[in-house]
Amino acid sequence: MLNVGIVGGTGYTGVELIRLLSMHPEAHIVTITSRTEEGLNVCEIFPSLRGHLDLIFVKPSIDVLSRCDVVFFATPHGVAMEQAQSLVDRGVRVIDLAADFRMKDLTQWKKWYGTDHSAQQLLEEAVYGLPEINREKIRNAQVVGNPGCYATAIELGFAPLLSSGLVDPRSLIADAKSGVSGAGRKQELGIIYSEIGDNFKAYGLGGHRHHPEIVEILRGITGANVELRFTPHLLPINRGILATLYANLNERSAHLVRTAFETFFENEPFVDVLPVGQFPDTRSVRGSNFCKIGLQISEDENSVLVVSVLDNLVKGASGQAIQNMNIMFGLDEKMGLNSLGLVP
Ligand SMILES: NC(=O)c1ccc[n+]([C@@H]2O[C@H](COP(=O)([O-])OP(=O)(O)OC[C@H]3O[C@@H](n4cnc5c(N)ncnc54)[C@H](OP(=O)(O)O)[C@@H]3O)[C@@H](O)[C@H]2O)c1
Repeated sequence: MLNVGIVGGTGYTGVELIRLLSMHPEAHIVTITSRTEEGLNVCEIFPSLRGHLDLIFVKPSIDVLSRCDVVFFATPHGVAMEQAQSLVDRGVRVIDLAADFRMKDLTQWKKWYGTDHSAQQLLEEAVYGLPEINREKIRNAQVVGNPGCYATAIELGFAPLLSSGLVDPRSLIADAKSGVSGAGRKQELGIIYSEIGDNFKAYGLGGHRHHPEIVEILRGITGANVELRFTPHLLPINRGILATLYANLNERSAHLVRTAFETFFENEPFVDVLPVGQFPDTRSVRGSNFCKIGLQISEDENSVLVVSVLDNLVKGASGQAIQNMNIMFGLDEKMGLNSLGLVP
């Protein structure tokens, strides 16, 4: 049984970790932190957990977290990088759901996150937690940087095309839409119901923090320079990401696309390539750890369109973090992640 700690248990990815880990047969949640709700029983805030958990929110403390085998940081960026080294020194493995251990490029880090990175040595050793491309490295990682939600949908959608050299890596377009829980559990005018409901908008048009993360990973896959146009949008739904991806096919590549996807994801437990003519919707993955993918070749066979869908809080965050935990500790990768999409 693994002893697990969660830093940031009052947020959306935090409560999703608690929900999934409460049903995980090999995980025992030892401590859940919140600075604002310290002393309150977790089930008072989240009654959905009653009967499955009896823990009080505590302030984050290295001493308490050190009793764990693994600690999840479900916190804003900048928190894990201050605490991870102390935990690793005490033999605790760390999975950060924020961006602290995702990108190796420190210049990009400073540009997008506005500070110097305070755990540069640990960042060098950290592994990007996308099992479909990094499974072997994840097994022995002390620190895993769990990918962003948009990043997961987009990287899984482009990876088979880039790794098999079927598309021009300078022609990538990602038109992606997210449910509002992607912004976290906070009070902010732009995400209140009357602003979001019955509305649809693009945002981050001057640039989005996931862009450099995605480009770094895709460049690693193709080995060549990547040019990606990425536009995020806000959907009036709670959960879900739908990314519509486009790329220009190299000559005589169109007939190889489907096989490239089916081969790349052949043994992947959580990626489902849909049959010809079928495309996924967000509810087909809601509450599940699946990424579902649909494919379409343009009539002139010059370009490919990929629809990649996942639940931002599960495969886009907490589910993928637990998938990483399972890999790191030699458990069945699917353990505790068997839920299917909730329809309707
Ligand atoms: N939401 C998504 O769909 C999604 C998907 C992928 C990745 N992520 C990433 O996952 C992380 C968490 O996202 P979220 O949506 O769950 O955020 P959230 O709903 O805003 O929750 C943030 C949590 O972090 C805690 N926290 C904030 N500052 C802290 C600090 N300095 N020290 C310790 N705890 C602190 C908060 O609790 P207290 O203030 O009470 O301590 C709260 O529980 C973010 O980095 C986000 O970018 C989110």
